[in-house]
Amino acid sequence: MYRVAIITSSDSGYAGQREDKSGPVIAQLVTAAGYQVVHTVLLPDERGMLSAEMARIADGDIADLILTTGGTGFSPRDCMPEATADIVQRAVPGIPEAMRWLSLQITPRAMLSRASAGIRERTLIVNLPGSPKAVTECLEYILPALGHGLEILRGDASNCARP
Ligand code: MTE
Repeated sequence: MYRVAIITSSDSGYAGQREDKSGPVIAQLVTAAGYQVVHTVLLPDERGMLSAEMARIADGDIADLILTTGGTGFSPRDCMPEATADIVQRAVPGIPEAMRWLSLQITPRAMLSRASAGIRERTLIVNLPGSPKAVTECLEYILPALGHGLEILRGDASNCARP
């Protein structure tokens, strides 16, 4: 059972002015898929705070997978991809490419997503969009493939043989 940490980036959520709906949606979807949610946190759109939290989780081997929500758009304060790039050691462009490919079938606005993904130590970090609808669409699409990536990253599988 892989361990998931969920980080929500939202100034208004952090200030208590808006309820975080996307974090709980992620928790629900990954739990249903057999993952264990070990940590959830709501942070403001602060690059240093976000990157420090991701690094802390990866370096402490607190979670196998970090899923973030919010902060991937064009708003001046959106900085999740930059915070992620600050601390990943290896980029994983295929995951955001796949999410944008899927999302472009739903809305042309998906091209506005700046989401990224990468690996730090033995933790995979994936930026998801901010809205619960977009989170659901993207996560349902990538989850089946993520499991195999985690098997390889964690040393539980050594090849890509398909079931
Ligand atoms: N992806 C999916 N699957 N469905 C959506 O409705 N909305 C898009 C996009 N990705 C959307 C989506 C919109 S409107 C924006 S602005 C970008 O993600 C960035 O979203 P964020 O700022 O909420 O992270």
